[in-house]
Amino acid sequence: MLPANGEAPVPTQHALEAAWSFLRHAPFGVVAIDRDATVLAINPAASRLLGYAPEEVEGDAVARILRAPRGESHVPPGACAAPEEVREVEVVTRSGDVLPVGLRLLPLEALDGSLQGTIALFQDLREHKALEEQWRRRDRLASLGALAAGVAHEIRNPLAGIGTSAQVMKRRLEVGDPRAQFVDLILEEVSRLDRIVTGLLQFARPAAPKLQRQSILPAVEKALTLVHEVAVRQNVLIRVDRADTVPEVYVDLDQVLQVILNVLMNALQALDKGGELEVWVGPVRKRLADRSSLGRRAADRLGVRRPAPLLDLVEIRVKDNGPGIPAAVVARVFDPFYTTRTQGTGLGLSICQSIIREHGGSISIESVVGQGTQVLIDLPVEKRHGDRRSNPR
Ligand SMILES: Nc1ncnc2c1ncn2[C@@H]1O[C@H](COP(=O)(O)OP(=O)(O)OP(=O)(O)O)[C@@H](O)[C@H]1O
Ligand SMILES: [Mg+2]
Repeated sequence: MLPANGEAPVPTQHALEAAWSFLRHAPFGVVAIDRDATVLAINPAASRLLGYAPEEVEGDAVARILRAPRGESHVPPGACAAPEEVREVEVVTRSGDVLPVGLRLLPLEALDGSLQGTIALFQDLREHKALEEQWRRRDRLASLGALAAGVAHEIRNPLAGIGTSAQVMKRRLEVGDPRAQFVDLILEEVSRLDRIVTGLLQFARPAAPKLQRQSILPAVEKALTLVHEVAVRQNVLIRVDRADTVPEVYVDLDQVLQVILNVLMNALQALDKGGELEVWVGPVRKRLADRSSLGRRAADRLGVRRPAPLLDLVEIRVKDNGPGIPAAVVARVFDPFYTTRTQGTGLGLSICQSIIREHGGSISIESVVGQGTQVLIDLPVEKRHGDRRSNPR
């Protein structure tokens, strides 16, 4: 900054060292450009992000390294007179990737305070964009869910009426009456619709979990008992393993049982021609990939990066050697109504996700086509605030 009398201050050795260290370690790109739009210096972060070594570009036209996809330079010739606002632009890297960056131009001054050119500061916005997209999707799903739940609620009563009437009709038919098959069809379709309506309501308005500190092992065992018969019938070998100690977690056991059952059923449906299913339960310590219940949108908007904290979790892994899910589809399996099964509602995993989020945990899927699918259900050991739908932030 200029002193009050207008003379430039003389930087001390310490100030120069601080500036130098700052440039070397700053987590954002810095490019110094002279009046002729020639690169004077770039810092390591800029070099990493753009893919050019400093010696390759220093002395070169800035248009070569800070250019938009259509070729124009992001830095106008001449000197930047005053700090500009941050702009969101796209930059083409050396390998041809297009990076979204937040770009800010500042004046480049010599030690005597005279204007020499421009400093371009820029920050990689990819993670920020991905988080924003995640939030947008969640907002969309929340409003879609609320709307669908309203409709589902309205459908429920007339549906019950149709079902009861059909049952009465069936009882009044003589044994062997050919019309019975039509009534059966009505009853079948009513129960299918009822499954969709119930699922939709569960997804959109999940009951608040009644959290109690307890072991989840009984829920795992019960789920395995419930699917045992299907597995035997389908010739699926189930292997179960657990860590020596599995900490207790704050869970609603009925809800967690529902999640495990859903996931096991999905695996068994994928293994309709037989195969193997592995279930493992044990403690893990990691950052939750799904930051839904951690990050605050405001903090993300402001660009304040808070890495998800390391958490103590109990993980349930369900791994099958079925056909797997194509990479392009994996992200969609949590979308309500996404299904590849004729009998499916496509709500199974959406409900699992909303239950696990309510528990402050996360559920994720890894899959390789031709090798199989692994579902990870992570539940925090410490009690955490879940993610009530009524408050989609
Ligand atoms: N283990 C798995 N292997 C292969 N594909 C899977 C697996 N688990 C889920 N999927 C895919 O994800 C889709 C969505 O699963 P989800 O449980 O939400 O719905 P669904 O099983 O189709 O229907 P519902 O759960 O209502 O019976 C499935 O249709 C299937 O394509
Ligand atoms: Mg399912």
